[in-house]
Amino acid sequence: MAITNGREQEARSPQRGDRGSCAGVGSTQPQPYSLGASDAEMARLDAQADSIAAATAVLLRSAGIAPGMRVLDLGTGLGHVAFQLTGLVGPAGSVLGIDQAEPMLTAAEQRRLAAGVENVHFA
Ligand SMILES: C[S@@+](CC[C@H](N)C(=O)[O-])C[C@H]1O[C@@H](n2cnc3c(N)ncnc32)[C@H](O)[C@@H]1O
Repeated sequence: MAITNGREQEARSPQRGDRGSCAGVGSTQPQPYSLGASDAEMARLDAQADSIAAATAVLLRSAGIAPGMRVLDLGTGLGHVAFQLTGLVGPAGSVLGIDQAEPMLTAAEQRRLAAGVENVHFA
């Protein structure tokens, strides 16, 4: 998760290839995510998110998430954290959930539409 307050003039991006990633440290090639994006993994993420939702809310508030912020949720999965963030940033803020797994993004977008949430985008 990355947080901005909307005042940054330019992004500070590392040069491509000079950082590792959680999916393959030191590699510049896309690596498969070890837990995948199966139905079983989605069910596991749902159960996990349910069990830690209250703690996640405390963490997000402690991080200073507030109305009007724009928040990036990297590795958003089904968007559980992203959806929690939408309530904190409010209609004046926005959340961008990024994931490499198309099935996760598709499910997250379906949930967004079903819930009528407008201040989150999944890509
Ligand atoms: C353990 S899941 C957590 C999902 C969500 N943050 C949650 O708390 O429920 C990790 C997610 O990160 C995604 N992921 C892993 N490496 C990634 C990468 N390099 N770029 C984008 N997404 C990545 C996976 O596809 C997976 O959906």
